[in-house]
Amino acid sequence: MQEIKNNEEFYYPSESVIKQAHIKDWNELSEKANDNYEEFWGDIANELDWFKSWDKVIDDSEKPFYKWFTGAKTNIVYNCIDRHLSDNRKNKLAYIWEGENGEFQSLSYFALYRETNKFANVLKSMGVSKGDRVTIYMGRIPEIVISMLACARIGAIHSVVYGGFSVEALHERLEDSQSKVLIVADGAYQRGKIVPLKEIADEALQRAATVEHVLVVRRTGQDINMEFGRDMWYHELMNMPFAKNKCDAEEMDAEDPLFMLYTSGTTGKPKAILHTHGGYMVGTYATLKYVFDINDSDRYWCAADPGWITGHSYIVYGPLLNGATSFMYEGAPNFPYPNRWWQMIEKYGISILYTAPTAIRGLMRFGDAWPGRHDLSSLRLLGSVGEPINPEAWKWYHKVIGSEKCPIMDTWWQTETGMFMITPMPCVPLKPGSGTRPFPGIQMDILDEEGKPVKDNEEGYLVIKTPWPAMIRTIYKDPDKYVEQYWSKYPDVYLTGDSARRDKDGYYWIIGRVDDVIKVSGYRLGTAEIESALVSHRDVAEAAAIGLPHEVKGNAIYTYVILRSGVNGSKELADELVKHIAHEVGPIAKPERIEFVDSLPKTRSGKIMRRVLKAKALGLDPGNLSTLED
Ligand code: WTA
Repeated sequence: MQEIKNNEEFYYPSESVIKQAHIKDWNELSEKANDNYEEFWGDIANELDWFKSWDKVIDDSEKPFYKWFTGAKTNIVYNCIDRHLSDNRKNKLAYIWEGENGEFQSLSYFALYRETNKFANVLKSMGVSKGDRVTIYMGRIPEIVISMLACARIGAIHSVVYGGFSVEALHERLEDSQSKVLIVADGAYQRGKIVPLKEIADEALQRAATVEHVLVVRRTGQDINMEFGRDMWYHELMNMPFAKNKCDAEEMDAEDPLFMLYTSGTTGKPKAILHTHGGYMVGTYATLKYVFDINDSDRYWCAADPGWITGHSYIVYGPLLNGATSFMYEGAPNFPYPNRWWQMIEKYGISILYTAPTAIRGLMRFGDAWPGRHDLSSLRLLGSVGEPINPEAWKWYHKVIGSEKCPIMDTWWQTETGMFMITPMPCVPLKPGSGTRPFPGIQMDILDEEGKPVKDNEEGYLVIKTPWPAMIRTIYKDPDKYVEQYWSKYPDVYLTGDSARRDKDGYYWIIGRVDDVIKVSGYRLGTAEIESALVSHRDVAEAAAIGLPHEVKGNAIYTYVILRSGVNGSKELADELVKHIAHEVGPIAKPERIEFVDSLPKTRSGKIMRRVLKAKALGLDPGNLSTLED
């Protein structure tokens, strides 16, 4: 049992924050949701447009394959864009974008409508239709949003691959999704350098057979290979007669797939999490509205990457569903200087900043003088996501960035949940490091090994006990794995993979992952991905990866490698292996350290005991070793 020693102080919202908030009384909303959960979600869904209404809000007849808003017809893109053309937001900015090199672009809701329609028509002319998979691989540029929306508008399923991933990661995702089309940029700017995305894609495409067309957005402008008959320029296609300004949104069943997003689970290769048009739309709309309290005067900035779930839900869909104005920035937070973010907050009058603890810790390192040079008074709310935020970083964020007047929304959720699950709202008193309580109506708990709820302040498995609209529907092509990974430890209960504790006030404190997922700088990676990249090197026989605490990144990757016989470990070989991982998986997966060893701790059935490696590295007691082979 671990007692909470500090952080017991509450941070209360000011009266002006409460006055402005959509929700002024959390308990009232929560009671409403608990009294009639279906009515609660049905009422929220009624704020959006449906081509045909639902027969049932929740259908649990085939649980855990829950269905939401069955019988209804809609299209999330219609609600993201078309709906706002008639509600006075036609000329409102949907996105304000700044490139790392200082370039600027803005898109009104009408412009986004036109560009999305044009590109949807381009995709149609390539033969893309409802249910087809399209992979998108770009940096943070407006075209990534347009591409996602264009796919969803015609009912194609997008699969966005984060631009920080590399050859093998892209190849695996192309092959698993059997995408017909790949939309890629020539490159991306990152810290003043060009990441050669098209070059990486060319190599991945040599290994992937299903892709017929590659549509290339020009961003960085260097010479690239364009394969005749396969590769076409985005800007040329958008000028073709078939790229018409109008393309009706396809009428989708509420349960039709919207997108798949690959993420690392407990074992093996990354799996594609599937989300749908109806429920995901209602969940992301409601959570962003209540938690970030979006209104028409806001300039909202979610600094994540569209290639991860945070970007899908809270850069693209949630903000557009709410008719918000979002800011998007292409590059690194400290380029060319550590005041880049603060400069842009001042310049664009950003009112809400939503980012990850690792970014906060990274910028905190440069000291208070950098933000101190800028007028950050436009900010009214702050947010955090991706990993537990340590109270020290929370307090710095609150004091130095938020001038002690901006509540911090520490939102706990996952690729699988699609939407915020444990989160404050502006009216909720805060404790630094806790996401407070589950969103109204969501029943969560912390269980022990046997499935019994643990006592206050005791650690256990974090679980979700009720279905929610934006929940994962299945793992693409692997429904058995969906049941096994999330619904098999306890009956009718969703297993999150996190451990947590709850204090006497009912506030949740996330401790971290209990499975083989490592959160590095908020990015979700699997030990298996790193290990299989290592063993794909000719000199490596076996490998193990673990995460160890890191001051800025939260966790850093440490690897243990057994070399093939006759090969000797050296500094040069270690460097080569790090490069190899960066080439195969991506720079985010680079280990902090590679240690050459003669053996690895294994169970008698041959599974690597990572917890033993971890305990040894941290100088802790490795615990029960009865299953250790030798
Ligand atoms: C972790 C990211 C503590 C958690 C949206 C979860 C958090 C995993 C928080 C999902 C938070 C996310 N506090 N931990 N506010 N938010 N996590 O799928 O371990 O990339 O299970 O989704 O991130 O990561 P994913």
